Amino acid sequence: MGMNEFETLKTLLGRDRSIRRFRQQPVATATLLDLVELTRLCASGANRQPLVYALANEPHLLDAVFPALKWAGYYKDWDGPSESERPAAYIVQALDTDITKNPLCDDGIQLQAITLGAAALGLGGCIIKSFNAQTIREVFAMPDNIVPLYVLALGFPAETSLLVPQRDRADIFYYRDGEDRQCVPKRPLSDIIFSVNFEHGL
Ligand SMILES: Cc1cc2nc3c(=O)[nH]c(=O)nc-3n(C[C@H](O)[C@H](O)[C@H](O)COP(=O)(O)O)c2cc1C
Repeated sequence: MGMNEFETLKTLLGRDRSIRRFRQQPVATATLLDLVELTRLCASGANRQPLVYALANEPHLLDAVFPALKWAGYYKDWDGPSESERPAAYIVQALDTDITKNPLCDDGIQLQAITLGAAALGLGGCIIKSFNAQTIREVFAMPDNIVPLYVLALGFPAETSLLVPQRDRADIFYYRDGEDRQCVPKRPLSDIIFSVNFEHGL
């Protein structure tokens, strides 16, 4: 693992922004399976591996999932993607409560693996926690022990999103600039280092 791989990872993370508007270009089932395959490689609390996935990329499923989702709470005058900008696929992450009721942080680790993989493939996506669980359960005929945790919307991006420096602690609101690019404030490194061994400097 050399510097090149580190730089590649950092570039991918930098590109791994939440994307909420998509081109109307299909995402193949094989691609969705490749992305879920990445989650098998992840760390897992007690190695219980309690997370399972439902995939959607067919029109009737896409139409059924979309109304269950809530988009971009900070955009008060935008309700989500228009019909010509909707996601081309969904990956629903669910917990099998027969295995455990507490996924610890397996959910986040696996979502990150999927979104990084998606970024590497030129796809964009948005992790969605705000969704109607009942609708999702019905669409995918989930039995009682399968509890949906997150919906990941996916597709080829039809918008640009970039990182901007956070101006102050209260500056957490993403916004669209004059060129309709989404800007996402992130805290500087100096702000998130709580304590450091100054012997070696920063
Ligand atoms: C745990 C979690 C839940 C999220 N839920 C939603 C959601 O329900 N709807 C949405 O539009 N975006 C959702 N997002 C996306 C965040 O708004 C987004 O990550 C944040 O604004 C930072 O932008 P970035 O992903 O480009 O860094 C969620 C992200 C995370 C990590």
